[in-house]
Amino acid sequence: MYLTTLKLTNFRNYQNLKLDFPEKLTILVGPNASGKTNLLEAIQMLSFSKSFRTRSDLEVIRWGMDFCKVDGEVKNNEESQKLELVIDTSSGKLKKGVKINSVSKRALDLIGKLPSVLFCPEDLNLITASPYKRRKYLDMVLCQVSKRYWAALSELRKVLLARNQILKDMAEHKAEKKELDFWDSKLIEVGKLIMSLRKSLIDFYNTKLVSIYNQITGEDKYLKMAYKPSFTLPKEFSLESIASKFKGELEKVRWKEIVKQRTLVGPHRDDFYFLLDKKSLATFGSRGEFRSVIIALKMTEVSFLEEKLGQKPILLLDDVFSELDQERRNSLSNMVGQQQTIVTTTDILHIDRGFAEKGKVIKLPI
Ligand SMILES: Nc1ncnc2c1ncn2[C@@H]1O[C@H](COP(=O)(O)OP(=O)(O)O)[C@@H](O)[C@H]1O
Ligand SMILES: [Mg+2]
Repeated sequence: MYLTTLKLTNFRNYQNLKLDFPEKLTILVGPNASGKTNLLEAIQMLSFSKSFRTRSDLEVIRWGMDFCKVDGEVKNNEESQKLELVIDTSSGKLKKGVKINSVSKRALDLIGKLPSVLFCPEDLNLITASPYKRRKYLDMVLCQVSKRYWAALSELRKVLLARNQILKDMAEHKAEKKELDFWDSKLIEVGKLIMSLRKSLIDFYNTKLVSIYNQITGEDKYLKMAYKPSFTLPKEFSLESIASKFKGELEKVRWKEIVKQRTLVGPHRDDFYFLLDKKSLATFGSRGEFRSVIIALKMTEVSFLEEKLGQKPILLLDDVFSELDQERRNSLSNMVGQQQTIVTTTDILHIDRGFAEKGKVIKLPI
């Protein structure tokens, strides 16, 4: 599977753009602010309809315009599929429309059509970033493989809004406990699913991370990714056991929640961390170790998507080569060539010659 053509209309700095991509490697070269990241963002939006950069879909519409459109053509075993994403505000309300082969579909039907793995310099901060960023990372991966996860995540947002409102009303003696009970069971229902899928993602990562990490660094260390939910998970892990533990935890914090008027336990408070030789990477790791761990994480992400979807995702490397030393560049270059890869850089000299020669070079701005 690979992206053959991308067409942008009113997307960020692009009024109209059409680009053709080869099956393997493309190198986008352009100065700062020439629209390199914008292009990768557009491609990634075809993977799951949301941008990795913004919380609001509105931001990607070209300033002064009321809609934007991303069209992609994907080739899979000689068969072509057309993907289309429109974000439209012309009616005064934000509307998102997805079409596959010109037929209207739900956003989550994009799953598996153009899976992607993005690696950008900000990822190098993931280890010490806010838990929100790390949850967003898990969501970005899981939303690309599971409709159930995607649906549960959008449900979670609604449940939290409603439940927090009830907590506020209870604090003001305007709501009763039985109303909260209703939202508790909803929260547990979506929460147990999200948490169990996050746990199985991390379990999968742990089967690959160590060996990839040691391959990158030439060391023999033990790397573990650990899930850190807002409450301790039961030893006997199942949907039922999470549900009953979750229920107990909600009861424990009930009064505190009413005082704070906020939901204090649940998947919206999840986090994960890394241990390198049993020590916290965030606390004791060096910058170089962070980089190797993140490359290993990205490589593992590629194999996770491949295993779940039966095809290799497209790899989007946004300006990362200049951030890496020679050894880590080599490990990253080795990963490339096995799937379609789009690399951006401000200077072609940041990319090894032997590697750059294999690709099609596109100069921005166009
Ligand atoms: N919604 C938008 N409409 C028009 N231009 C935008 C919009 N959002 C960002 N830009 C412009 O896009 C440029 C940044 O593009 P970006 O892809 O981040 O650059 P880079 O090549 O450095 O990765 C900036 O000049 C910014 O002004
Ligand atoms: Mg950029």
